[in-house]
Amino acid sequence: MTLQEEITRRRTFAIISHPDAGKTTLTEKLLLFGGAIHVAGAVKSNKIKKGATSDFMEIERQRGISVATSVMGFEYRDVKINILDTPGHEDFAEDTYRTLTAVDSVIIVIDGAKGVETQTRKLMNVCRMRKTPVMVFINKLDRPCKDPFDLLDEVERELQIRVRPLAFPISNGSTFKGVYNLYEKNLSLFTSDERQTADASTVEIDDLASVELDRYVGERYAAQLRGDVELVEGVYDPFDRDEYLRGEVAPVFFGSAVNNFGVRELLECFIRIAPSPRPSTAETRPVEANEPKMTGFVFKIHANMDPNHRDRIAFLKICSGTFERNRNYLHVRSGKQLKFSSPTAFMAEKKSVIDFAYPGDIVGLHDTGNFKIGDTFTEGEKLRFTGIPSFSPELFRYIENADPLKFKQLAKGIDQLMDEGVAQLFTSSLNGRKIIGTVGALQFEVIQYRLEHEYGAACRWEPISIHKACWIESDNAEQLADFKRRKHTNMAVDKHGRDVFLADTSYALALAQENFKDIRFHFTSEF
Ligand code: G4P
Repeated sequence: MTLQEEITRRRTFAIISHPDAGKTTLTEKLLLFGGAIHVAGAVKSNKIKKGATSDFMEIERQRGISVATSVMGFEYRDVKINILDTPGHEDFAEDTYRTLTAVDSVIIVIDGAKGVETQTRKLMNVCRMRKTPVMVFINKLDRPCKDPFDLLDEVERELQIRVRPLAFPISNGSTFKGVYNLYEKNLSLFTSDERQTADASTVEIDDLASVELDRYVGERYAAQLRGDVELVEGVYDPFDRDEYLRGEVAPVFFGSAVNNFGVRELLECFIRIAPSPRPSTAETRPVEANEPKMTGFVFKIHANMDPNHRDRIAFLKICSGTFERNRNYLHVRSGKQLKFSSPTAFMAEKKSVIDFAYPGDIVGLHDTGNFKIGDTFTEGEKLRFTGIPSFSPELFRYIENADPLKFKQLAKGIDQLMDEGVAQLFTSSLNGRKIIGTVGALQFEVIQYRLEHEYGAACRWEPISIHKACWIESDNAEQLADFKRRKHTNMAVDKHGRDVFLADTSYALALAQENFKDIRFHFTSEF
């Protein structure tokens, strides 16, 4: 197969949702279609994220929460699909944000009873920033749900994206009849004895006016569907794939993941319309996927897969060319040539050594502590990919050494954990104390646990009251200096030495923005 053919047949995406909307369940069903796993429910209690594959860290076992973001590859109708799993727990949202930098599209799962929830909104902000194409799957139609038109309106309003239903449900909850596929003009009938095993029976209904429809779903629901479809066709513009690819419109599907209902339709449409690897943006130029020379960047570092070693796995997203085992690549940041004798690919239940990988693929590289998030590998060009920012953290604590004899271990541990992107480190300009910023409270426990178990260091947390950290810059050097002088007690530097303003309250932040017009306040580290 040529490089171009390999690229064209690849789809790399993430499923995102608010916890409990059904992301894990949907992932499992997709893997079933791909034959990557064989029996529904084979994965213990439906939780792939709790399975052995992503159970890399002791802390996960202890807490039963997936701290990991793993990759699941499978083939479906000659299409190579890479699902990048994202942590279910919202405290690990930063991990999810970063994973979104490595995907070409996204499927958003929404609970039909609950509608759009906070976590979905936050994740969508990242997709919007990156213009990532999104598809929406409204789940749990077997339960009483909100009205489908209300849900569509809610998605448009809350996620700030136009929607275009490509399927439409017939009732929900105990009277859920099925889903009419507007794209293929067929009807999938829902029956409850299909639970967990087969996919639904589908009937072709070319003409909704036909009495056949009444026979399948009953007169009342047939009439309702006719009305609904008429409304859909009247209200929503025809689906335009280019708009979807530009991130302007989201096709919407309805179904029930746990019943494997509506999932095949989603998958079929996904492989047809979702983008294959898109060009990546580097500082100096855009990089096309079909360029012959290999380029890629590290978007995630995963520590301690083997608890007996402190080794890490760096997840490399291939952006262009063909990645080859045992070939020298330039690690751009260090200027060193490195080669990898056992790069791994991730399948649903196992990882295996690979000889080649193509744009869109994720390769696991063994790392002894030298790689950082955002590191670029090339065949010699000094490229640096952009679009892998740190996000402004929301929770802050001072970190103190709790064991004076282990100072070095603590410093090394903090350094490596920050490189992995577990949290962000700021140094106060006021007193030189180190401040850790995270997006979730659980992160502090993870850091403490890992410092102790992986680095033999002990830390103590002390409270600090900060509302938000933002990076600041200005072309007006005088105003910037004035700002830094006045806000001296609230200034810090990040690990790259860049100025960060630690606002005590949202009011203080708003006031600072108001009073210092020439200063730009950034909520991601890339600007
Ligand atoms: P998440 O990864 O987004 O957090 O959600 P997950 O798939 O774990 O699903 C959360 C719960 O919702 C699970 O139930 C799951 O079985 C259920 N669920 C998923 N899809 C559907 C659906 O289409 N209809 C209904 N009625 N329920 C659905 P649980 O009781 O928390 O766990 P489990 O014991 O069933 O695994």
